[in-house]
Amino acid sequence: MLFATFCGFLAVSNAWAQSSTVDAYISTESPLAKAGLLANIGPSGSKSSGALSGIVIASPSNVNPDYLYTWTRDSALVFQTIIDQFTLGLDTTLRGEIDNYVGAQAIIQQISNPSGTITTGGLGEPKFNIDETAFTGAWGRPQRDGPALRSNALITWANFLLSENNSTYVTNTLWPIIQNDLNYVAENWNQSTFDLWEEVDSSSFFTTAVQHRSLRQGVQLANAIGQTSVVSSWTTQAENLLCFLQSFWNTAGYITANTGGGRSGKDANTVLASIHTFDAAAGCDVLTFQPCSDAALSNLLTYVDAFRSVYSINSGIAENAAVATGRYPEDSYQGGNPWYLATFAVAEQLYDSLIVWNAQGSLNVTSLSLPFFQLFDSSVAVGTYASSTSTFTTITAGVQDYADGFVEIVAQYTPSYGELSEQYSKTDGSQLSAVDLTWSYASALTAFDARAGITPASWGASNLTSTCGTSTGSGGDTVAVTFNVDATTVFGENIYICGSVDALQNWDPDTALLLSSADYPIWSITINLPASTDIQYKYIRKDGSSITWESDPNMEITTPASGSESYTENDTWR
Ligand SMILES: *[C@@H]1O[C@H](CO)[C@@H](O)[C@H](O)[C@H]1NC(C)=O
Ligand SMILES: *[C@@H]1O[C@H](CO)[C@@H](O)[C@H](O)[C@H]1NC(C)=O
Ligand SMILES: *[C@@H]1O[C@H](CO)[C@@H](O)[C@H](O)[C@H]1NC(C)=O
Ligand SMILES: *[C@@H]1O[C@H](CO)[C@@H](O)[C@H](O)[C@H]1NC(C)=O
Ligand SMILES: *[C@@H]1O[C@H](CO)[C@@H](O)[C@H](O)[C@H]1NC(C)=O
Ligand SMILES: *[C@@H]1O[C@H](CO)[C@@H](O)[C@H](O)[C@H]1NC(C)=O
Repeated sequence: MLFATFCGFLAVSNAWAQSSTVDAYISTESPLAKAGLLANIGPSGSKSSGALSGIVIASPSNVNPDYLYTWTRDSALVFQTIIDQFTLGLDTTLRGEIDNYVGAQAIIQQISNPSGTITTGGLGEPKFNIDETAFTGAWGRPQRDGPALRSNALITWANFLLSENNSTYVTNTLWPIIQNDLNYVAENWNQSTFDLWEEVDSSSFFTTAVQHRSLRQGVQLANAIGQTSVVSSWTTQAENLLCFLQSFWNTAGYITANTGGGRSGKDANTVLASIHTFDAAAGCDVLTFQPCSDAALSNLLTYVDAFRSVYSINSGIAENAAVATGRYPEDSYQGGNPWYLATFAVAEQLYDSLIVWNAQGSLNVTSLSLPFFQLFDSSVAVGTYASSTSTFTTITAGVQDYADGFVEIVAQYTPSYGELSEQYSKTDGSQLSAVDLTWSYASALTAFDARAGITPASWGASNLTSTCGTSTGSGGDTVAVTFNVDATTVFGENIYICGSVDALQNWDPDTALLLSSADYPIWSITINLPASTDIQYKYIRKDGSSITWESDPNMEITTPASGSESYTENDTWR
């Protein structure tokens, strides 16, 4: 008892100390991180090593590891940070950088590369040379999160410009880039992808989550600027993505990061997905795994605890205090150490949660999130706690201290000149792997902003529903059906499908669903259809405004019973 009281006293006093430590760290690190980030952007960044205008280098490191390339993912996350800072009025000097990025991405999209051309899959190429030529070496490709993240950043920019009445630039310059990316997402989300760590070729939660966000945001922008021809097919695929997103939930209480890879699946992938799809207007919505949803908090706890025993710098740290975290506990890349951006992401998810709880004036404890909340109040019970209750005060103060603890870990292992590499040593916290990682700097800035209560623009996560139900992945009363059709086309022609049910657009050729030609001449699409139902359909061929239907009669399928494995229909164009 005496011991417990003593520990409790220490935890509280330490928490106060952490908070002021973090304040001091942020005030020195914030400008250094901003400068470090801008130094890595061409043409004039001091460490950008000759990168062309608007090109973000991943790191100036050109040997062990060689990161002197530009990744579509990293660049988009860096520019999401820059665009948020500019559009939220935090830094009014960044407009020229944003214009340069837009110019560079318009060029990068058109570069033929080992993944294909712009119309045959090239948008999934993960990285390019910094002189805007294709990287032709062996690599984990494609990586299908890149186009989604780029469009998310550009749509944030577009929405700001619309508020400035600059719709000409949005329609003429931004929309063509966004539309290329989102057509790619709509056509290819159901194909396998390398994950954000470029190692596992399967389906990946992060990729699916950011793809879902991109199509929702894209539909809103399309409606806002009158580009409505894409709305129906992008909405259909967004609904399919939201359904698929649920299937990553693991009943052990966390999100399995990848469907392949042969690991535990506990991975910063899922925490990063939560912060990069944060939408405060959606509250603690579980369908989109918002940062304060019970599923995302349970996942956070599982992820953090996976690192307690794998890094020796974490030994001896109390179970309810922050530790260093990395990509995933089985990681061995460059020694398999903690990553700054992963540790910052944990803090950011917690700060995002505090933003919502404070705005809503309450927090919910469910049986799923109970173990998380017990870190801060061992006697807390399932229920709703209004901000007037002492439980709310105790928990939010505890979460703030816990979150600050992750920033303090980073602070402890940041050198005095503020440099952030990719990794810090699991045995002594010293800097390892690529120096000056641009994404590390971006992750510092977004975590600091979230701690200050700064809320990014909404992307439309509110009020969504899924026929799949929440977090079960059971498919409800629908069943996934893949349609493959062998169809030879000429340049400019695409294959679509429509049919007798809502999910097949009720025979409307204008809104028929586009199939993917990734395995040409096989065109393919996966659609969630009502189970145990007779459904008629046809493929159609479109070239601009010209439409050709398959010959009669209609094709027919009886879908399997709900709960069945997915089903594949193989057809040949008639
Ligand atoms: C945009 O146009 C609207 C309607 O004409 C006007 O009320 C608003 O002030 C304009 N905004 C800016 C930033 O110019
Ligand atoms: C619209 O925004 C673009 C991009 O920043 C800028 O170049 C252009 O001058 C703006 N146009 C107007 C009318 O403000
Ligand atoms: C395609 O979507 C179906 C239905 O959601 C899903 O079962 C399947 O795993 C997905 N495959 C890929 C590679 O995304
Ligand atoms: C708590 O749960 C109630 C009822 O399910 C819901 O209306 C409310 O938005 C939730 N609040 C938070 C902060 O999750
Ligand atoms: C979501 O639905 C609720 C209830 O209909 C409504 O009050 C709220 O404004 C909606 N939120 C958004 C962002 O549309
Ligand atoms: C379609 O082809 C796939 C793979 O070639 C096969 O697994 C599947 O059973 C086929 N579907 C039908 C209905 O025969």
